[in-house]
Amino acid sequence: MAMVPMKQMLDEAGKKGYGVGAYNVNNMEQIQGIVKAARETGSPVIIQASRGALKYTNLVYLKHLMMAAVEDNPDLKIALHLDHGDKLESVKTAISLGFTSVMIDGSLKEDGKTPRTFEDNAEITRSVVEYAHQYGVTVEGELGTLGGIEEHIQASVVLLTDPKEAQKFVEYTGVDALAVAIGTSHGAYKFKATPTLALNIVDEIHKLVPGLALVMHGASSVPQELIAKVNKYGGKLPGAMGVPISSIQEAIKFGVRKINVDTDSRLAMTGAIREVFAIKPDKFDPRDYLGPAREAVYELIKTKMIDFGTAGHNDDYSPITLEDTKRAYAR
Ligand code: G3H
Ligand code: 13P
Ligand code: ZN
Repeated sequence: MAMVPMKQMLDEAGKKGYGVGAYNVNNMEQIQGIVKAARETGSPVIIQASRGALKYTNLVYLKHLMMAAVEDNPDLKIALHLDHGDKLESVKTAISLGFTSVMIDGSLKEDGKTPRTFEDNAEITRSVVEYAHQYGVTVEGELGTLGGIEEHIQASVVLLTDPKEAQKFVEYTGVDALAVAIGTSHGAYKFKATPTLALNIVDEIHKLVPGLALVMHGASSVPQELIAKVNKYGGKLPGAMGVPISSIQEAIKFGVRKINVDTDSRLAMTGAIREVFAIKPDKFDPRDYLGPAREAVYELIKTKMIDFGTAGHNDDYSPITLEDTKRAYAR
């Protein structure tokens, strides 16, 4: 089975200059759509679960669905990642479930709104790194706050990442990857007008800490054809706007290696389900609408794997294990 530490995946992406998508999942159809896209494009893939997703599935259901993806695809490189862990406890839970990577989002306090001080963020992140690295598990930290609105992850102030602080943060905490705030936000309403991202920040951090994998959160592109489809079949998402794929590709050139996508897959599923409900009102077998939803996720993610440059890289390297990274961290 090729369940790999996320660090290996991101290091390999760094060597060849491409990005790896990290796709949020909550159910079987999303997982199957994503891994089918990975298989067909020959892409390594990060499957990630938020705390909300773990709660929704009572932990154990999602764990087994993710593990099923690994078992069903022995030749695919898959990293299982905790998205937006808020404290050491959630990280411990994810590691006990078998995740190969965790995020500790120390940028906001436990209310999910108020920014933490640099010092507090660095302390909590360092304690997670000390814990996770004992198991060979990769750690992603976050410095700066994302803009925008996504349920509980809604900063009250948007603070872009300061490159010098990022360097200090990485040296002090020992994180393997760093989520940077460059003007993106979670959800379907990222921008009101033409999107602008502070890609210079990515460039500067990459120059200061060249080996570090940078992470773009809020990277959904909110494809307008998906918005049109949702709206056509009774949805109401006026003015939704995301990150243009060209900006993501530019960010990859500057050192972004992990690209977080959740909203687009939600949109793809919703459009497909609404279409079935609207066009075939006699259907009531969940497979009749969840099947098309799964296919829509597959089509969407396949395009992303090509656009991020991930396609064709699954077989570039041999998988290492958590035991291997555990030994490397100990050294
Ligand atoms: O970072 C936010 C992700 O889109 C996860 O969202 O907490 O609603 O599962 P969620
Ligand atoms: P989107 O809402 O843009 O898909 O971002 C997802 C994300 O950053 C998950 O951590
Ligand atoms: Zn995020």
